[in-house]
Amino acid sequence: MRIMFLGAPGSGKGTQAKFICERFRIPQISTGDMLRAAIAEGNELGKRVKAIMEAGELVPDAVILELVRQRIAQPDCAGGFLLDGFPRTLAQAEGLENMGVSLDWVIELEVPPEEIVKRLSGRWIHPGSGRVYHLIYHPPLENLKDDLTKEPLIQRDDDKEETVRRRLEVYQRQTAPLVGFYRQLAERGKVRFATISGVGGVEEIRDRIFQVLESVLTIPGSA
Ligand code: AP5
Repeated sequence: MRIMFLGAPGSGKGTQAKFICERFRIPQISTGDMLRAAIAEGNELGKRVKAIMEAGELVPDAVILELVRQRIAQPDCAGGFLLDGFPRTLAQAEGLENMGVSLDWVIELEVPPEEIVKRLSGRWIHPGSGRVYHLIYHPPLENLKDDLTKEPLIQRDDDKEETVRRRLEVYQRQTAPLVGFYRQLAERGKVRFATISGVGGVEEIRDRIFQVLESVLTIPGSA
């Protein structure tokens, strides 16, 4: 099962990825989490991308493609994976195809921009696992602590309102064209594409995604 999530910043990709990866026992490949880990480590990659991410801009395609190429070559990706936040440009989508990777599903999560600003201003994350919380919509069991490890949660530097608006502009300009790219591939039978409303409760959206994925898994050839 190779799945890709397409959706604006804050549309719930990371939140929903956790459910899917658990259900299908596949790793979540979040380029954003990988880049943040590099920044936290203070390595060369981290130094190179820190200012770009803080400004809400995209990291160069060549850097991202190399990161993903190395990650999907790991043994835990042999049975599939979920791509969260990649590809994000047409060049990245073409780069993925050139690696010989074909996707089974592209799931687009649709959420209006005004809802996104609300979501990101209340987001807190557990840096170790990438688990995502929201102070109002999806609060942790204990105040600002991760449910499982009880370690402190942090806020992302790029979740300031001004940067969120910039990230939304970048999404519209550079990532939204991928909807057309993958719809065309779907018309040629190369991938399955579904647009799912990302508005509603977290579990409700999870069930919408499972329904779409499992309808095809249980009825072969029905897509
Ligand atoms: P990345 O980390 O990928 O961020 P993003 O795509 O901007 O997405 P987010 O993580 O902000 O949102 P999400 O959709 O995962 O939402 P979440 O589930 O957290 O990228 C960050 C940066 O890294 C980029 O700007 C770029 O610089 C760089 N980068 C990464 N990949 C790159 C690439 N391929 N190429 C170039 N550069 C790259 O949910 C958000 C909040 O809403 C949470 O608080 C959550 O609890 C809450 N929430 C979730 N679902 C619901 C719901 N149904 N109702 C109410 N609240 C909800």
